[in-house]
Amino acid sequence: MTLSRNAISPVDAVLERQDLWRKRLAREARQERRTYEDGPYPDSSRVVAAKSLLKMLGLFARGVYNASNPLLHTRVLSFDALPSAFDGFRILHLSDFHFDVGFDVFEWTCALLDDIAVDLCVLTGDYRFNQGASCRAVYAGLQRILSVIQSRHGVVGILGNNDVGAMVEPLRAMGVRMLVNEGFALDRDGAAIWVAGVDDPHDYRTSSIPAALGGAPDGAFTVLLAHSPELIERADGCGVDLYLCGHTHGGQVCLPGIGPLFLNTRCERRYCAGTWRFGKMQGFTTTGLGASTLPVRYNCSPEAAIIELRVQNSSQASECYTF
Ligand SMILES: [Fe+2]
Repeated sequence: MTLSRNAISPVDAVLERQDLWRKRLAREARQERRTYEDGPYPDSSRVVAAKSLLKMLGLFARGVYNASNPLLHTRVLSFDALPSAFDGFRILHLSDFHFDVGFDVFEWTCALLDDIAVDLCVLTGDYRFNQGASCRAVYAGLQRILSVIQSRHGVVGILGNNDVGAMVEPLRAMGVRMLVNEGFALDRDGAAIWVAGVDDPHDYRTSSIPAALGGAPDGAFTVLLAHSPELIERADGCGVDLYLCGHTHGGQVCLPGIGPLFLNTRCERRYCAGTWRFGKMQGFTTTGLGASTLPVRYNCSPEAAIIELRVQNSSQASECYTF
């Protein structure tokens, strides 16, 4: 196997992964001093005030309803470099569950995904929300969702900025192939693409695209999973073909005529929701399934997405379907 276009050796990739992993765990140790293993995570005064205000304005119930009704979108993306064996390959993209925010995100996700069969399922992080919160809700919710996912090549996941390194092994035990600055060749009918995943680029800043692409054959069609869209420029420079991410929630609260109030990302707005292009790369930023801080959404639906890959010259052009 030849070295990838970023020219990092397998040994350097291992060393970089180890170094970044130590950096993440050290920061977690500082951040997660308080843990709430045995009880509900307490609402902060800011959350209590925001909830009260929305209730007073008569908007809270509507926001919870919006957040509880996800859509399933199918996006068709065409590529020159896609091996013909992958024409029609379907990737189910789920993100930002935030299972501990306090509503049954797994129940409506299961209902949405019932009877959907795909080639690959990818999870782009933020299974948890609250710092120091128990991971029990995460494991129970994810287990329930995994039980309905029908994916020919399994489920691949990465960590988000609200997750902790301690989740990696339990998620692997559930059958999720967790990628922490690493990747693998996915074979189909004698051809292969490279599926890579990086650690969180937003808070921990422990992502390494060169390490995730280390070992990829030169010129391989590459799908990169990153928690946020903050690595777009670097990914395009490394020759990534498709970039899948979440984190922004599409704003979660969007005002008519104004758009999202917060995107919590160091990135231009046009890359913070939906499909986009950067250089030669195409990407998709999902609005995610859960909610952060409060279980509400306004003018920004939660979503699951199916990304259907097509060879550029095949009969189907880029399209989007919503169910
Ligand atoms: Fe996030």
